[in-house]
Amino acid sequence: MSDFSSRLKTFSTEFNNKLLSLFDKPNGAERQVVEAMAYSVGNGGKRLRPYLITQTAQLFNISPDQSFPVAAALECLHTYSLIHDDLPAMDNDDLRRGKPTCHKQFDEATAILAGDGLLTYAFELITSDNNNLSAAIRCRLANMLARGAGAFDGMIAGQMLDLLSEKNINSQNPEPIIKHIEEMKTGRLLCFACEAGAVLGNAPQDKYQALSTYARKIGISFQITDDILDVEGSTEQMGKTLGKDAAQNKLTFVRLYGLSQAKAIASQLIAESHDALSIFGAEATDLHNLADFILSRQH
Ligand code: IPE
Ligand code: IPE
Ligand code: MG
Ligand code: MG
Ligand code: MG
Repeated sequence: MSDFSSRLKTFSTEFNNKLLSLFDKPNGAERQVVEAMAYSVGNGGKRLRPYLITQTAQLFNISPDQSFPVAAALECLHTYSLIHDDLPAMDNDDLRRGKPTCHKQFDEATAILAGDGLLTYAFELITSDNNNLSAAIRCRLANMLARGAGAFDGMIAGQMLDLLSEKNINSQNPEPIIKHIEEMKTGRLLCFACEAGAVLGNAPQDKYQALSTYARKIGISFQITDDILDVEGSTEQMGKTLGKDAAQNKLTFVRLYGLSQAKAIASQLIAESHDALSIFGAEATDLHNLADFILSRQH
């Protein structure tokens, strides 16, 4: 295991313990929804988004404890997006993070509610007045997260385009559409992760901008590698059913350009993400490592 992978693993172990402590089960029958939320949140996952928040905030001397509520909120919101993405009406997946998807483990209605519960909980965590963040920062972060996750220019917009693209595969000019899909459905939450670190650290404009550019590059690249792994990854390592994009006629870079050109595009984006970090010098080593991990990942 590379040094970076083992650091990510150490981080995930600590993060998971803290995250799961946030899911106290109520006594009544309504506990089923909280059990479903905790099942999906606790069900593995690379924790790349929380790691990004933690690392970018640390560039400005913000400790992992201080950034934790924001990292936890983002992981909750991301997990909601996965639960809903897997629903029969969306990608109809049975396997997530190596276990049955939420609607398979529980039922469809519970999975919908668990997604809703995690989305709502994300905003509770970010805005809670016992999380040691100033009211101004909490409000700014909540607004940024709502926009990044939202229907106008955020993750939900990307998911809508993704679903529509299944029917519209022969569109005359698919390149800008696919870029837009990847940038929104995946890129926006990764952008939030990096920009949140900068906001937590009260970063100067040039450093905020550098992190934002880095995030945009790794965001598209991350989804391209997800699409590549959907073709040539292993189900065991990925923990999800593969070959689904082709089966569902998804519009992806792989479909448009073929595997080798898609890999070249992902690689070019990662090179550009490294350039974006130059302002931080040696301090951003782990962000460089994370960018390389995105390209070489097998899961
Ligand atoms: C999966 O995200 C969904 C995409 C945006 C491609 P991750 O690959 O980060 O999933 P987990 O959190 O590690 O399970
Ligand atoms: C999902 O993209 C992106 C979001 C959940 C927002 P995919 O549909 O490709 O993700 P996987 O492959 O199911 O993880
Ligand atoms: Mg999908
Ligand atoms: Mg999917
Ligand atoms: Mg995928």
